[in-house]
Formats: sequence, C-alpha cells, structure tokens
Amino acid sequence: MATIFVLNGPNLNMLGKREPGIYGGKTLESVAEDCRAAGARLGLEVDFRQTNHEGTLVDWIQEAGEKAAGIVINPGAYTHTSIALHDAIRGVAPLPVAEVHLSNIHAREPFRHKSMVSPVAVGMICGFGPQGYVLALEALAARI
Ligand code: DQA
Repeated sequence: MATIFVLNGPNLNMLGKREPGIYGGKTLESVAEDCRAAGARLGLEVDFRQTNHEGTLVDWIQEAGEKAAGIVINPGAYTHTSIALHDAIRGVAPLPVAEVHLSNIHAREPFRHKSMVSPVAVGMICGFGPQGYVLALEALAARI
C-alpha cells in the first residue's frame, strides 16, 4: 500500500487551543484520525507527523523521497519564510506535494500571502479548515 506523509509544522500541535476563531476547535490528533480514515477509504497509508523545527521538516521531506508516494504538508509559518523547505521539496521531485492551510492565507495579513512552498507544490488548498487535509489526500490519491 502506498504511503503518504502528512507533515505539520510549527504551532500546529496547539490546534484546538490556539486562536480557535481562526484555526477551529479541533485538535491535531483529531485531524490525524480524519486523515487516517480518509487514507483507509482511498487505499493509502497515512504517516501523520508534527514538528516545531524547520530542519526536522527537511529531514522528513527527504525521508518521504525514499519511502512515500506523496506528501501533504501544512508548513505553518515556515510557509512564508523557508527556502530550505522549498529546496527540500525540489530535491525530492517528482514526488507530488500538496500544500494545505487551515485558514485562507490570502484573506489574512499581507505577510501570509507569499508561500515559498506553492511554486514547488502540485497545488494548494487553503481556507477549508481540517477538511483541506482530506481534500489534499483525495487529490494525491487521484495522481498516484
Ligand atoms: C497556517 C497559516 C500560517 O500562516 C500560519 O503561520 C500557521 C497555520 C494555516 O494552517 O492556516 O501556523 O499554515
């Protein structure tokens, strides 16, 4: 069975407690359960992870290049700053990467409008809350 890495960046461990008006009341563990359920329906194994560290995300992207059929990534604030994540994703090409954000980053502060990841992702889903992760898994399942 193909494996999809679902990678989450900084502060997403605080989901449910952190700015619920923006990010909703669901915990990250509950999002992980939704992803595993979607994976089971789509015939994909879901390896769901979170870290607050940029270099760990780079390590996991490189690991996905060896082991996974695709990546769903919510890079959190590193979305807007990280050339390292951009380069790591380029480095595992043509592994398909789907970028996800819970909030609509284009409807928020100008510093969130730029993504370093979007140019190297197959596509990006934002603004649909946790459902975005399931939509991203469905989009990857259709490609692999
Ligand atoms: C986020 C949006 C980012 O701008 C922010 O830094 C996050 C979460 C989202 O899921 O909406 O940490 O990626």
